[in-house]
Amino acid sequence: MIESISRRLGLKLFFSYLIVLFVGVLVLVVASQFTLPGAFNRHMQGIDGGMMGSSGAGRGLGMMGLYNDFRAGFNETLLYAILAAVFVAVVVSVFFSRGVIAPLRAMTDASQRIAAGHYDERVQINGNDELAQLGVRFNQMAEKLELVESMRRRLIGDVSHELRTPLTAIKGSMEGLMDGVLPATHETYQQIHTEADRLNRLVDDLQELSRVEAGSYHLDIKPVDVSALLQTVAKRLALQFESKRISLELELAPDLPRVQADEDRAVQVLTNLVGNALQYTSESGKVTVSATHLNDEVQIAVRDTGIGIPPEHLAHIFDRFYRVDKSRSRRAGGGSGIGLTIARALVEAMGGRIWVESVGEDQGSTFTFTLKLAK
Ligand SMILES: Nc1ncnc2c1ncn2[C@@H]1O[C@H](COP(=O)(O)OP(=O)(O)O)[C@@H](O)[C@H]1O
Ligand SMILES: [Mg+2]
Repeated sequence: MIESISRRLGLKLFFSYLIVLFVGVLVLVVASQFTLPGAFNRHMQGIDGGMMGSSGAGRGLGMMGLYNDFRAGFNETLLYAILAAVFVAVVVSVFFSRGVIAPLRAMTDASQRIAAGHYDERVQINGNDELAQLGVRFNQMAEKLELVESMRRRLIGDVSHELRTPLTAIKGSMEGLMDGVLPATHETYQQIHTEADRLNRLVDDLQELSRVEAGSYHLDIKPVDVSALLQTVAKRLALQFESKRISLELELAPDLPRVQADEDRAVQVLTNLVGNALQYTSESGKVTVSATHLNDEVQIAVRDTGIGIPPEHLAHIFDRFYRVDKSRSRRAGGGSGIGLTIARALVEAMGGRIWVESVGEDQGSTFTFTLKLAK
């Protein structure tokens, strides 16, 4: 009972009214016990004196007096009751509004400080009524804002860092050329071109990432044939596989049902995963793409015999800008670590999941994603 009252602002308000009412009635009753007999007695004494020499008229006057005395007594009692009720009302409402106003004021102050950029601001939670719940939600919101802000800061830091590496290389090469330290050979120009190309790809990736993360792209979800999907990607990357002498195999379960997907986006995800497998597998390795029907989804797995991923990196591999070994990734012609982030966002937008498995370094890796069956 007490607990349910303490959880409801409305009940608290109701009970504070009840207290005021109760005290008013109590004072009325108690005061009437004291003042009404006194008034009655005073009157009776007055009548005794007047009764001596009079008759019927005195009696009528006596009734009037009784009524007047009674009314005076009653009014007096009422006055006490009103005074007591007002006093209690003031006390209760001061007490009650303190409980309401204090947390509201705390939240107002905190929201102002948050607006001014102090994202670590939190309000203190007292009790467990609606205001306390509002306080809890307020703190959750502040926490989220703090997280978004720290992500924004980190993103800007990451992007500047990613931009700086190729820019420094280009600038260094140009200075070398101008000072005559570097020979003006085809190789030097090629180096500069490669770095400029890297910058270009980074900017493209960033643009794509921001579009995908903001959800500002159109998904054309319809039934898609998985085998055709895999063959499209295999055909598209065939030359690159050949030139690196890596074999690409498709393992397609018979009677694969169609899936719900945006064909272009699914191709993009698959190209990304197969492209990574190609990139992180050394010559004469093998990449296998398989599709299997499991319950209400189709699992598409890209397995390679490449460099593998150490277990401590598995949890972060889909984070933006995350690369297992930055220098190795750069030498291997790797990108900026955005590819998998985009792939995950796209798979999730199509209602699927994506994950990675790897036994460890040089043990190969398997990237798997799911797509829901077409209805
Ligand atoms: N098939 C794979 N084998 C080993 N490591 C991989 C594989 N795919 C991705 N990775 C690791 O995950 C990182 C992130 O991949 P991705 O987001 O595609 O970025 P990148 O642009 O570097 O390819 C890579 O830098 C690499 O370290
Ligand atoms: Mg990649």
